[in-house]
Amino acid sequence: MNARSLLSDAEAQLAEAGVASPRVDAELLLSHVTGVPRSLLLVAARPNELQHRSFTELVEARARRVPLQHLTGSTAFRFVDLEVGPGVFIPRPETEVLAGWAVEQAVLVDEPVVVDLCTGSGAIALSIVQEVPGAVVHAVELDEPAFGWAQRNLAGTGVDLRLGDAADAFADLDGQVDVVVSNPPYIPLDAWESVAPEVRDHDPSLALWSGDDGLDAMRMIESTAWRLLKVGGAVGVEHADAQGESAPAVFAARWSDVRDQPDLAGRPRFVTARKPR
Ligand SMILES: C[S@@+](CC[C@H](N)C(=O)[O-])C[C@H]1O[C@@H](n2cnc3c(N)ncnc32)[C@H](O)[C@@H]1O
Repeated sequence: MNARSLLSDAEAQLAEAGVASPRVDAELLLSHVTGVPRSLLLVAARPNELQHRSFTELVEARARRVPLQHLTGSTAFRFVDLEVGPGVFIPRPETEVLAGWAVEQAVLVDEPVVVDLCTGSGAIALSIVQEVPGAVVHAVELDEPAFGWAQRNLAGTGVDLRLGDAADAFADLDGQVDVVVSNPPYIPLDAWESVAPEVRDHDPSLALWSGDDGLDAMRMIESTAWRLLKVGGAVGVEHADAQGESAPAVFAARWSDVRDQPDLAGRPRFVTARKPR
């Protein structure tokens, strides 16, 4: 079977299974199996029998709503590629904007000290250490399997990665940090029904749920950031699009410059604030 027919059959199978982007996913899986770039598949891919069989198995798994990135084993985030798989939250495109904000804050400072709380795969920490020359980056993750993925992704980068709870992490850095950034869990416990199967069945639960209003982790990050930051330091924390007012409210009492910021789709996505001088 040629690439064209394989792709159209796979696209139909994935569409039938309710996958949101069936053609793109089919192309990415065929590219993964054959090693041919996605844009050249129709002209250059000639799948042999083994590749054909692997592709069929991967499409079947994707039709069971296994995340695409678990099947390919990696995902792109800003300018880096990360290894991902079972046991770690897959970094999302909307978080790239938050990471970009953290980069912009960090480059304003000479040899900035940056902390990524709830690092997961290490996506934000890795972006900062790659994009900000001279940055001293620290990251913490509570979940052991996720920590293992972060160890692999951050190996050799110089990031100080620790296994632990963001609530009491980095006591040795109190008052010395320029930028705190975090994409913590933020889904309310009762929102189970509205979450896609790829997320609910494959992202670790510690990465998703955060109390009745989804803001338990936000309150914890607010407190840790207050402890860690220098006077004048900045914090940025991602939240759900429905939390565009409730998330900034967590920072209302004692922070300055509290702002809510949109993602690329224009939806409320992260709150930023500064520790007052
Ligand atoms: C939504 S995921 C985000 C991961 C990563 N920052 C990203 O953007 O891809 C949240 C992460 O926070 C971790 N986590 C949850 N509670 C934590 C805590 N109290 N301390 C440290 N990490 C925590 C979870 O295990 C998960 O890896």
